[in-house]
Amino acid sequence: MGKVSGVGTIEESLFARALGETASAVNQTLDQLLPSVPGPEGQVVEAMRYAALDGGKRLRPFLVCASADLFQVPRARALRAAAAVEMVHCYSLVHDDLPAMDDDDLRRGRPTVHKAYDEATAILAGDGLLTMAFEVLADPATHPDGAVRADLVTELARGSGAAGMVGGQMIDLRAPELDLDEAGLIRLQGMKTGCLIACACRFGAVLGGGNQDGRAALGAYGQAIGLAFQIADDVLDVEGSAGVTGKATGKDAAAGKATFVSRLGLEGAKSQSQRLVEQAIDHVGIFGPAAEPLRQAARFTIRRRT
Ligand code: IPE
Ligand code: IPE
Ligand code: MG
Ligand code: MG
Ligand code: MG
Repeated sequence: MGKVSGVGTIEESLFARALGETASAVNQTLDQLLPSVPGPEGQVVEAMRYAALDGGKRLRPFLVCASADLFQVPRARALRAAAAVEMVHCYSLVHDDLPAMDDDDLRRGRPTVHKAYDEATAILAGDGLLTMAFEVLADPATHPDGAVRADLVTELARGSGAAGMVGGQMIDLRAPELDLDEAGLIRLQGMKTGCLIACACRFGAVLGGGNQDGRAALGAYGQAIGLAFQIADDVLDVEGSAGVTGKATGKDAAAGKATFVSRLGLEGAKSQSQRLVEQAIDHVGIFGPAAEPLRQAARFTIRRRT
């Protein structure tokens, strides 16, 4: 297992540039997929646009594009699949912020959707983003082969549904009454955050007709960085500030959330996330030098400040 190194300024600035390029491209795709509409229903579309455009690191879209590049997938197809994953991610944030869930007022440096609009509009905007993601994947513009499109739909449904993100969110909310052991905590965080990130990584192999080994390697990489990413999020909740992260901090302990920080302490959580990044990098070894962007993304998941 190689030491995680090379977190020097050249790698950091190259990665920042690559992430920024994907972000602008996916922003354009999302903007085209979500045009404003006239009429009274236009309010939900405005709220969807508010939730999905202008903000966010766009890490999941980057992972779709970087994994798709391993299989020479045309960029326009990868960007549509990336936009679909980002729509689901943005919906999950809109609902996560609702008073019934984490009750947050600030997201990406702006009022949360239920603050900018109202709760009912936020629920509907989340629903609209979730369903539109599947419409985008089912469109022949995403891939000419119907079997590939069906595969993408199944992958996203699994990653985001009750066996993935939604199930993880349910356990997250019930955690204070559950007294989870370490395996239970890994399962919670893996479902809540790892499954959608793993789906983003597997999308490249699905779009590119990769074999099961490629999909499995990318899925294992994604699960590992997904867990590391959530640990970093939980560390930032303690060490970060709202001015930098764009969302309230210091809330997890107060809410009794089950996190790696509450279980292992800050230093223990950081070492765990470092180990996960090393494991993730090992998983993509089979792709050789072509997987360098994925190695850089893995290191980014735990050095980020937002
Ligand atoms: C926040 O995700 C929610 C978690 C899964 C930790 P991100 O940190 O990717 O949020 P954005 O998209 O950059 O705002
Ligand atoms: C949420 O985790 C993960 C999702 C699936 C939305 P958090 O509740 O810790 O995410 P933040 O801190 O609000 O972004
Ligand atoms: Mg939450
Ligand atoms: Mg939250
Ligand atoms: Mg958090």
